[in-house]
Amino acid sequence: MCAASSVWGNNLRLSVFGESHGPAVGVVLDGFPWGETVDMDALHLQMRRRAPGQDKTATPRKEADLPQFLSGIQDGFTTGAPICILIENTNTHSGDYSNLKRVPRPGHSDYPAFVKYGGFNDIRGGGHFSARITAGICAAGALCRQVLLRRGVRIAGHVLSIGDRQDACFPETQISPEEMERLASLYFPTLQPSAKTAMEEAIQKARTAGDSIGGVVECAVTGMPAGLGGPLFGGVESLLSAALFAIPAVKGVEFGAGFSVSRMRGSQNNDPFRCTSSGQVVSSTNHAGGILGGITDAMPILFRAAFKPTPSISLPQESVDLLTKENVPLEVRGRHDPCVVPRAVPVVESMAALCMLDLLLSASSLPPSSSEKR
Ligand SMILES: Cc1cc2nc3c(=O)[nH]c(=O)nc-3n(C[C@H](O)[C@H](O)[C@H](O)COP(=O)(O)O)c2cc1C
Repeated sequence: MCAASSVWGNNLRLSVFGESHGPAVGVVLDGFPWGETVDMDALHLQMRRRAPGQDKTATPRKEADLPQFLSGIQDGFTTGAPICILIENTNTHSGDYSNLKRVPRPGHSDYPAFVKYGGFNDIRGGGHFSARITAGICAAGALCRQVLLRRGVRIAGHVLSIGDRQDACFPETQISPEEMERLASLYFPTLQPSAKTAMEEAIQKARTAGDSIGGVVECAVTGMPAGLGGPLFGGVESLLSAALFAIPAVKGVEFGAGFSVSRMRGSQNNDPFRCTSSGQVVSSTNHAGGILGGITDAMPILFRAAFKPTPSISLPQESVDLLTKENVPLEVRGRHDPCVVPRAVPVVESMAALCMLDLLLSASSLPPSSSEKR
């Protein structure tokens, strides 16, 4: 029996704990660099971008999501001890979930979790499978993001699509730092404002129909040096995919030109190299998404994560009674996101931040910080 599935990382170690309707969720982050300043305002901004109850495209469950730091930070600096972050659950309606152990929700973890844990799993709000556990991941990611930014590494995501409504893609080779900063401060970021309006309409339509809708988050990382990662299982794509697939509702991940490479010739897909006047090797296109042979090539790391429509919908569905073994109808109660994608953007960015810091820590020493007080 393998039960340990909520611990991640090679050079950093992240352990995720909590259940949606338990007293709290959180993380323990071990191996974090010491002597790093912590900007709490910047961290709270990232927490707010993920927090529920922001607008009509999200669940009405309101949570303050104020992280408490139980260890690892003193007088505004990281100490090198494991950083324990706790976020209380303050707004739970557990009665909404009473029938789901017996009659599982189609599309959710209820049935396979019931089989795996023999019915001992906490079903309330999805328990440990709930996206509530991504609150701690966002806090950890926000800390990593600050260390990375001081070393010139920026991370930003945007909602690329909701259903058939599309935003523009990131430019492949040059993404402006100002644009990345703008996106990384917004709830529901898009490159084009009109795309956001169209996407909000699509989410509203799904919600009023008692249904849900999926979409894609695109994310970019700039400023990573060349030469990090490795072949086979140590590849940057492997590291990132494992982290991204840990986000509830992610069903697809692609890098650079992704699945469309299968329709190209080598002459179209290969990214031509050239030297800049300062002697830096760059490529004039970036179908590789900044990764070749599992190793960074210093071009922007570009990837996309596809999210399925929220499984908990209010339309009647078909399920089974696990006790009587009868086919029964199910009407899901409770407060749910009609679309998980806008709230998932900072989660995707946080997973990227954890992976990027993990990679930088694999180098013999962390690059010097540009603006750090020591
Ligand atoms: C930010 C975010 C919010 C989510 N909100 C809900 C929700 O309100 N209701 C729900 O049924 N699923 C929600 N999900 C998705 C489920 O947690 C997920 O589908 C479920 O745990 C099963 O895992 P799987 O889809 O990865 O197989 C959310 C996911 C994310 C990333």
